[in-house]
Amino acid sequence: MAFDHRKYAAFRPVAKTDRRWPDKVIEKAPTWCAVDLRDGNQALVKPMNVAQKQRMFDLLVKLGFKEIEIGFPAASQPDFDFCRKLIEENRIPDDVKIQVLTQARPELIERTYEALKGARRAIVHVYNSTSTVQREQVFGMDRAGIRDIAVNGAQVVKDLAAGNPCTEWTFQYSPESFTGTELDYAVEVIDAVTDVWRPDEGQPVIINLPATVEMATPNVFADQIEWVCDNIRRREHISISVHTHNDRGCGVAAAELAVMAGADRVEGTLMGNGERTGNMDLVTMAMNLYSQGIDPTLNLSGMAEITEVVEACTEISTHPRHPYAGELVFTAFSGSHQDAIRKCLARRKDGDAWNVAYLPIDPFDLGRRYEEVVRINSQSGKGGVAYVLERDYNISLPRWLQIEFSKVVQKVAETNGGEIDSMAIHSLFEQRYLKVHEDWALRAYDLHRDDQGVFAEVTFGRESAPMSLEGRGLGAVEAVSAALEDRFGLAIAVEAYEEFALGEGTRANALACIRLTAGGRHCSAAALAEDTTSATLQALFSAVAQAAGEPEDETSRQKSAITA
Ligand code: KIV
Ligand code: ZN
Repeated sequence: MAFDHRKYAAFRPVAKTDRRWPDKVIEKAPTWCAVDLRDGNQALVKPMNVAQKQRMFDLLVKLGFKEIEIGFPAASQPDFDFCRKLIEENRIPDDVKIQVLTQARPELIERTYEALKGARRAIVHVYNSTSTVQREQVFGMDRAGIRDIAVNGAQVVKDLAAGNPCTEWTFQYSPESFTGTELDYAVEVIDAVTDVWRPDEGQPVIINLPATVEMATPNVFADQIEWVCDNIRRREHISISVHTHNDRGCGVAAAELAVMAGADRVEGTLMGNGERTGNMDLVTMAMNLYSQGIDPTLNLSGMAEITEVVEACTEISTHPRHPYAGELVFTAFSGSHQDAIRKCLARRKDGDAWNVAYLPIDPFDLGRRYEEVVRINSQSGKGGVAYVLERDYNISLPRWLQIEFSKVVQKVAETNGGEIDSMAIHSLFEQRYLKVHEDWALRAYDLHRDDQGVFAEVTFGRESAPMSLEGRGLGAVEAVSAALEDRFGLAIAVEAYEEFALGEGTRANALACIRLTAGGRHCSAAALAEDTTSATLQALFSAVAQAAGEPEDETSRQKSAITA
């Protein structure tokens, strides 16, 4: 059996009795660093060309990133050239720091400084791998040997910066594969590096703790971060950064818990692009903060532009269910969800805090339209169908008709097997309920009220051969029903009728809906007219027409409606 869990060992949790991070609440955004142009880029089947890199850089600047890792110039000529282009063409805004990555090897660090010549400010990000597996199996070195690589690298970084005093330098060190490194050893290496850099003497220093491979649950990562924060020297002079990957699908969660555990800074990529399962997704984490009422310090309101640029640069499409960004993430197909959303949106007043069932944030904030929220397929119910008619056609249906019509829509959706758009729903409603047969068109009516109720005279039917009826009842509907009963010999029992005034902008002023039993058949109809009485009487005629006329085959009626 190849599939055998006994091949794997569980990650040993951190033995910690003074865990404080679970009680912390994130109250402000961390410093963000976007590493799309390095981590993301190095993971692409087709690495970005210069035009794509420039487009991505410009987007990151536009979104508000102040720290942007633009590449690994010592390892790749295109990255070197891109770095030079940004500096020489003066494309880096004054408040943005570019960051470049290099291994802790003197010749690579030297080349990195060459790439950075003339930069106003820059972060030099130096790393070496520290985990047990890397020490023992990849490098064949002991703890002291690996620590020396870091220390020597730190010294070269410092010396070369001293030789280029016109640039404002920030130094960053990452013990790569930190999650697989013994914590006491990680602290030993970090302290050795800061012994060289001396952040306590004014040198800006970032210590970046990567979950190079996500190896455990996010709480374990948070423990690791809290442990390091508690045990390193010069903590108060150091910016602690995290850089999580998503191997277990928890890259964002791990970064969030790490911030609770003391991290000041978070590295990631837009939409989580990056090696293997990717880096932690900056869009998701920033929007998670936003949804808690915290300023993410990034402007992600143009989500369509963000996904378009990321897709164009990475040539990777956005999953339709990608948090906050995917096509379907604000869409409800389920009937009960649609119903709840419709009710919450209807109650909501301007200025209210956002509190809408099933929608963690207002889709409008990300440039999404409410039209996308409710979409109809065979899983949808009365609420969704009613919402679409109300929203797009200003048609409000009584509850009984919502229930009845949603079944009509559901049948068509089941037959078609897909989504039914708003126009098709409206046309289905017109065909099924509003269509007036010429023989049953109301032409004129006269209602006389006296002590005994209403005496009605109505004219209906074709213009060339109109018919007249007379009847009496307590109200207009009863009077006209009596007249119809007389003429057609049908027993008519009106079960429900409702009239609605329509909003401005429509030709008709009123909508009426009626449900009745005539000659033993249940019929329902609706009508639009200039006034409520005309609408109600026309709806009555249309419903009786169904009982009196040839019973139309339901499937062919639906088919003609949907293709209309
Ligand atoms: O994932 C990782 O460990 C890295 C380091 C170079 C920071 O990308
Ligand atoms: Zn990484």
